Amino acid sequence: MKIITIIGARPQFIKASVISHAIRKTSGIKEIMLHTGQHFDANMSDIFFNQLGIPKPDIKLNINSSSHGEMTGRMLAEIEQALLSHKPDRVLVYGDTNSTLAGALAAAKLHIPVAHVEAGLRSFNMQMPEEINRILTDQISDLLFCPTDTAVKNLNNEGFATKNVEVLKVGDVMQDAALLFSKNAIAPPNISLPEQFVLATLHRAENTDNPERLANIVLALNQIHREQVPVILPLHPRTRKLITQQGLKLNVRLVDPVGYFEMVWLLDKCQLVLTDSGGVQKEAFFFGKACITMRDQTEWVELIEMGVNELVGADNLKIADAVIRNIGRKVQDPHQLYGGGQASLRIVQHLRERISS
Ligand code: UD1
Ligand code: UDP
Repeated sequence: MKIITIIGARPQFIKASVISHAIRKTSGIKEIMLHTGQHFDANMSDIFFNQLGIPKPDIKLNINSSSHGEMTGRMLAEIEQALLSHKPDRVLVYGDTNSTLAGALAAAKLHIPVAHVEAGLRSFNMQMPEEINRILTDQISDLLFCPTDTAVKNLNNEGFATKNVEVLKVGDVMQDAALLFSKNAIAPPNISLPEQFVLATLHRAENTDNPERLANIVLALNQIHREQVPVILPLHPRTRKLITQQGLKLNVRLVDPVGYFEMVWLLDKCQLVLTDSGGVQKEAFFFGKACITMRDQTEWVELIEMGVNELVGADNLKIADAVIRNIGRKVQDPHQLYGGGQASLRIVQHLRERISS
């Protein structure tokens, strides 16, 4: 069986790494890696291939830094050409980025079956580009690998149970990655870090593209760093651009985006996580830390229900208050909420069974 894996953004490299490892240990599946080029800086792309042992992309496009329509449309056209020339039996896509949707749509239009890893997640906020991407990708996939019970329930509510597709709860591949690579954790080079700190990340379009929300978050981060506890923020290039454009001053410990090994070190050593990332919310949990999420909704609702993650939007007072209440708090995962590190094996086993059936 020949599979083309389509990836393009930072979290997809991390997710694909563990499945790619599992595929290489399995006979009968050949994986071809297509990188759309959506993320392209060395510290947003190459570093993950090097650290996580992901094979060099067989096909590398260079499509990035444009509007959603243009980016997705150009990817669609170029991925179609790659699929026509490589003739895979199946396409594998991850998550909810423009690369995900373009890959799934190019395949579906050519009647190539699509497997979606991280299927069924919903924020119920159609203003998010990711919500559009994930709903459409699920609709054109025939193998839907769900990380959680909630994701399965969301698909059932949308009528997937009566469709001729497979919906499987497999757990979360990000937990596989956290478990596999935590032994490689290394301190970010060339920066002296305080003993206690909050690890922050910030890049979500709903925050960075809204001047009022961005200004409020900057206000909160500056205040926490000045008055409560140092804030370490590996800054996404999107956010760097917008903060500069808006003339805002972010007075925290800013570092360039770090590799995954450095990120797991920071997650392990921090006292609290403050983020608007999807993946980092769960990683806080994997590393036993509480999380404060600067969004109005989350797809990872089980963490909210457990009381280990709190949604605070972009309200500077709520953000600062939640940090005071949660700093240093340790959280536990007694029920293996995200599958306990078996998701990639389950996915690859299922793909393997598909060949023999
Ligand atoms: C994308 C995904 C988002 C995901 C995030 C992970 C979509 C719609 N959004 O958002 O779901 O959470 O990736 O990080 O697909 N840039 C650089 N260098 C890079 C990468 C990006 O300078 O290596 C700049 C781009 O030029 C662009 C901006 O960052 O100006 C945003 O990049 P883009 O890929 O459009 O969206 P993300 O915000 O990264
Ligand atoms: N990450 C990283 N270096 C950083 C910031 C994040 O390796 O400087 C990792 C993080 O640990 C997680 C993934 O990137 O595994 C999350 O990606 P991001 O927040 O960009 O996207 P999202 O999950 O919101 O789609």
